Amino acid sequence: MRRLRSQSWFGGLGKDAFIHRSWMKNNGLPDDAFDGRPVIGICNTFSELTPCHIHFRGLIEHVKAGILEAGGIPVQFPVFSCGESNLRPTAMLFRNLASMDVEEAIRGNPIDGVVLMAGCDKTTPSLLMGAASCDLPAIVVSGGPMLNGQYRGRTIGSGTDVWKLSEDVRAGKMSPEEFAAAESAMSRSPGHCMTMGTASTMASMVEALGMSLAYNAAYPAVDAHRNRLARHTGRRIVTMVHEDLRPSAILTKDAFINAIRVAGAIGGSTNAVIHLIAIAGRVGVPLTLDDWDEFGRDVPTILDLMPSGRFLMEDFCYAGGLPAVMKEIAPLLRPNARTVSGCTMGEQIAGAENFNRDVIRPVSNPLTAQGGLAVLRGNLAPNGAIIKPSAATPSLMVHRGQAVVFETIEDFKARIDDPALPITETSIMVLKNCGPKGYPGMAEVGNMALPKKLLEKGVRDLVRISDARMSGTAFGTVILHVAPEAAIGGPLALVKDGDWIEVNVPERTLNLVVSDEELTRRRQEWRPPEPAMKGGYQSLYVERVLQADRGADLDFLVGCRGHDVPRESH
Ligand code: FES
Repeated sequence: MRRLRSQSWFGGLGKDAFIHRSWMKNNGLPDDAFDGRPVIGICNTFSELTPCHIHFRGLIEHVKAGILEAGGIPVQFPVFSCGESNLRPTAMLFRNLASMDVEEAIRGNPIDGVVLMAGCDKTTPSLLMGAASCDLPAIVVSGGPMLNGQYRGRTIGSGTDVWKLSEDVRAGKMSPEEFAAAESAMSRSPGHCMTMGTASTMASMVEALGMSLAYNAAYPAVDAHRNRLARHTGRRIVTMVHEDLRPSAILTKDAFINAIRVAGAIGGSTNAVIHLIAIAGRVGVPLTLDDWDEFGRDVPTILDLMPSGRFLMEDFCYAGGLPAVMKEIAPLLRPNARTVSGCTMGEQIAGAENFNRDVIRPVSNPLTAQGGLAVLRGNLAPNGAIIKPSAATPSLMVHRGQAVVFETIEDFKARIDDPALPITETSIMVLKNCGPKGYPGMAEVGNMALPKKLLEKGVRDLVRISDARMSGTAFGTVILHVAPEAAIGGPLALVKDGDWIEVNVPERTLNLVVSDEELTRRRQEWRPPEPAMKGGYQSLYVERVLQADRGADLDFLVGCRGHDVPRESH
């Protein structure tokens, strides 16, 4: 057995080892807890302000039991919990901050491996980013999705039905009282959003990357299967420490290619693009928007889940979960990618079964033939923009329309329902200054609500373009992540009302039909917006955040810094 990292704290008879052991005995740890057995950190994102994680105090007990059964010592520690539903101005502003917390907590403490407990949209990438930058053995156990929402005899999905029902209220088809009643019907149990939003997508990405045990993505939060999975995860991390199986051996280019393929097959959230690029950056794997287009382009969406389709995560679980999806698209995958379970991905999915071909459709009868996320480029987005074709209107995939421009999100909210707003069903809505630096934090506001006057006429989709993100639960012909963003003078900043814009998704183009001379003239007049806050973390973020096409990480956090800390604390 090799000498474990924790022994550089706890081993020996000197003054420093006395200090480290003596204070840890406050936890009730006996002498033999320090005899060289693996010390496993449990990185816990429990918070009552992150309701998606409200069951983590119970789930963690199963992780601990598994660690103890395998001969390890479990030690849980809290980290910044980025809850999507409450944090202002947007949880994304704090993903990188949380990743710093995770990285430094892992590196600075006497642990040999770590279990990452995540669930809500930003907790999964922030934990993976931090752990990847340390490269100690790490494994994820996700919190799992909520049970299906049920409202007046019909199934409703987190987020997706919030957007739909609120548009019904604005169109006069639903009363505000009925809308309020849907609140309690939507969130019926602990767990994260049960649509294929960002949380479910990122749990699927974790599994597709090989960073969790099989079936991690789909078991509902309240299903005993998830407790058992947590227990097996606790056992497995102890063995991983003995094997020295670290993220750098699992998070390879093949693993990211598998994840991109799976994102297309499940109709995953557009946010996965940014998060996977950021995670890859932490382990030094070159991953670009072009990889997303190349490896996602021909992947059919076969999972019929909201927002692209009809069903929800509970149905996905009963249909066979992610291994069943991966087996359906097995010819597209890199089977030799390693997983935390110790076997290859090909071996992991070999025995998977599909129990419901309405939910997990065969490749021969997909929901969308070309389900991957499309990357658009042109003079409006020289460094790229993305769209999710499976959630868009097919007839708008090739479209030419005149811009209706909103300079800020406040400008949009103030004018969208103005009866005098010159907007028709062929217009293209353009929103500026909502990117990484502009918002700041690149909020999920890109799926702008449609104007009331068009909703009342029955219009349900328009082309919308912004440097923002959108919720993974949202839908529509929404072009996002335009880079460079408007707040640093990207071409988006130069668009004016009435400009013609051409979108061609099959040809992957996005162009502003304005002459170069006119754009040069407008650029000379352009002035950057005032920062939303001076000082504090926001200033650091705005100064150092990378653009969307590079994962919106902070530039100084990119890369793996390892887990060595040679200098003692006393
Ligand atoms: Fe937490 Fe949707 S708000 S997963």
